[in-house]
Amino acid sequence: MITEHHKDDAALFLGDALENLSGLATGSVDCIITSPPYLGLRDYGVEGQIGLEESLDDYLDNLTAVFMEAHRVLADDGTFWLNIGDTYGRGSRPLAQPAQTFEKSRNKEKRPQDGRSLRLRNKSLIGIPWKIAFALQDRGWLLRSEIIWHKPNPTPEAIKDRVTRSHETIFMFSKQERYHFDVDAIKEAGVDGETLVRRKDVWTIPTRSYKEAHFATFPEALIEPMVRSGCKPDGVVLDPFSGSGTTGAVALREGRKYIGIELNPEYMEIQRRRLDFPEPTIYLFDASYGQSGQPAST
Ligand SMILES: C[S@@+](CC[C@H](N)C(=O)[O-])C[C@H]1O[C@@H](n2cnc3c(N)ncnc32)[C@H](O)[C@@H]1O
Repeated sequence: MITEHHKDDAALFLGDALENLSGLATGSVDCIITSPPYLGLRDYGVEGQIGLEESLDDYLDNLTAVFMEAHRVLADDGTFWLNIGDTYGRGSRPLAQPAQTFEKSRNKEKRPQDGRSLRLRNKSLIGIPWKIAFALQDRGWLLRSEIIWHKPNPTPEAIKDRVTRSHETIFMFSKQERYHFDVDAIKEAGVDGETLVRRKDVWTIPTRSYKEAHFATFPEALIEPMVRSGCKPDGVVLDPFSGSGTTGAVALREGRKYIGIELNPEYMEIQRRRLDFPEPTIYLFDASYGQSGQPAST
C-alpha cells in the first residue's frame, strides 16, 4: 500500500491521452504500460473517449495516433507493453455501440445508420490486437513479444457454440533493437517447481478488480513483471489510459516514477486516492507543460 505522498515521483494528467502525450518531452519516459478501452465494450461516460468510434478503422486510427505519440515520448531504450482485447463482428448491427444501450434504443430513428457496421460477418472474431500490432509495426514500432494473459477465472459466457474466452493479449514493443530488459528480475519456477528459469510468454494471473472501480482494471500481479523487467530501476513509467491507477500503484511500489493520464475525472479521483496523491497537483492539459515543468492549473 502507498502511504506517503508521491508529489515528486508522480504526475497525474486529467484529460485526453493524445493531447496530454503531446505536452510531454521527447524521450522523457522509460516504459509505457497500458490497456486502452476495448472497442464497443463500455461507455466510460466522457466526451472524447476512445472505444465508441463508429467504425473499426476509426478506432484503430485513434489508437495508432496515441501510440505513435507515445513512441516519441518513450526513451530510445524503452519498452511499451500493450494489453488489448478482441471482440466479434456484429454483421449489420453497429459494432461500437455498447450492446445494452443499443438494445434499449427501440426507436429505429435513433439507431445508428449504415457506416457504423463492420464489413465482417456477424459472430466473426475480429483480431483487433493483431490489427493494431500490424499498424504499429508499419509505423516503426518493433514488436518483440506476444504474451498471453491466461485468466483462470474468466467471465462466464452464455454462448454455447464456441469455447469460453479465457485469455487476453499483451504485446511488448521496443523502439530499437537494443533496449533495457532485465530478464533475471522476472524468473519463474520451472517444471520441478523449484529451479528458477527464464519467464515464458503465457502468464496465468487471475483477474482482480480494484475495490472502488466499476470497470476492468489490471491485476497488480500482471503489471509487476512488466515494471521489473521493462523499466530501469530509477526510470519513469507512463500509462496514458490509466483508469484506477494500477500501473501507478505498482510503479511507485517498485521504486519507479509514474505519469498517469486519464480522461474521466471520477476515475482520476479514484487514482489520486489510491496513490495518496495530493489533491491540488492533478494537472490539466497545457501545451506549455513540457517546457515549463509546472502544473498548468490545479
Ligand atoms: C481499460 S480502462 C484502463 C484501466 C486501468 N488499466 C486500471 O487498471 O484501472 C481504459 C481507460 O481509458 C480511459 N479513456 C477513454 N478514452 C480516453 C482518452 N481519449 N484519453 C484518456 N483516457 C481515456 C477510460 O476512462 C478508462 O479509464
